[in-house]
Amino acid sequence: MTRTPLVAGNWKMNGRLDMVEALGASLGGLRNSRAEVAVCPPFPYLAALASALGGSGVQIGAQNVSSHEDGAFTGEVSAEMLADMGCRYVIVGHSERRALYGEDDELVGEKFLRAQQGGLIPILCVGETLREREAGETEQVVVRQVSSVLDVAGIGAFDQAVVAYEPVWAIGTGETATPEQAQEVHARLRSALAAEDASVASRIRLLYGGSVKSDNAALLFAQPDIDGGLIGGASLSADEFSAICLAA
Ligand code: G3H
Repeated sequence: MTRTPLVAGNWKMNGRLDMVEALGASLGGLRNSRAEVAVCPPFPYLAALASALGGSGVQIGAQNVSSHEDGAFTGEVSAEMLADMGCRYVIVGHSERRALYGEDDELVGEKFLRAQQGGLIPILCVGETLREREAGETEQVVVRQVSSVLDVAGIGAFDQAVVAYEPVWAIGTGETATPEQAQEVHARLRSALAAEDASVASRIRLLYGGSVKSDNAALLFAQPDIDGGLIGGASLSADEFSAICLAA
């Protein structure tokens, strides 16, 4: 099965308008990259980024979505609004939202469903903490995180989804999972999905995230079950992000 790699940049709560314009202009050069490329800026910059990217083919995505439909939910942003702004993707279940904003597996499942109902492709993040890895619980944690979404959405929904494996201990730390460590978890995730439906499992893109840089991207992306990356810090530099996209 040949899967088109996806490289998505997650700016987190970083960036200003001048960066949107500079990045938009420079990513136009990725038109011919083998990988699909997406950028997820903070909400206020979605429109400006969409316009800066113009006809480059680079997609935009959001970093979060409400679990509610439109209505009296002050401060929330619905999936339909994001689709209306041109978003194709939305990140759900990022470990920062799980750890800092109390998002549990149940809420992540609701957001995943709402994202799809609103016309978006969820990028479902899973990953273990350092304590969990050291306790030998990595597989159990990531399979539980995926299974809780499978339980509410069903395997068919994963045909319109992406899963990102992001070991929490590797996020923003400069410490990357080795290609072998990452491949081992990706293979386990794919086999958990294959237990439900082998053909969906063979089509889904599994991204790696956690201190991916231009100098480690190629080896990670060369692993058979790693289909691109979810890039945090390195996506804030146009040169670095472009080099990562070209490595996929
Ligand atoms: O969403 C991206 C991940 O949290 C990875 O962030 O590349 O800064 O480690 P990082």
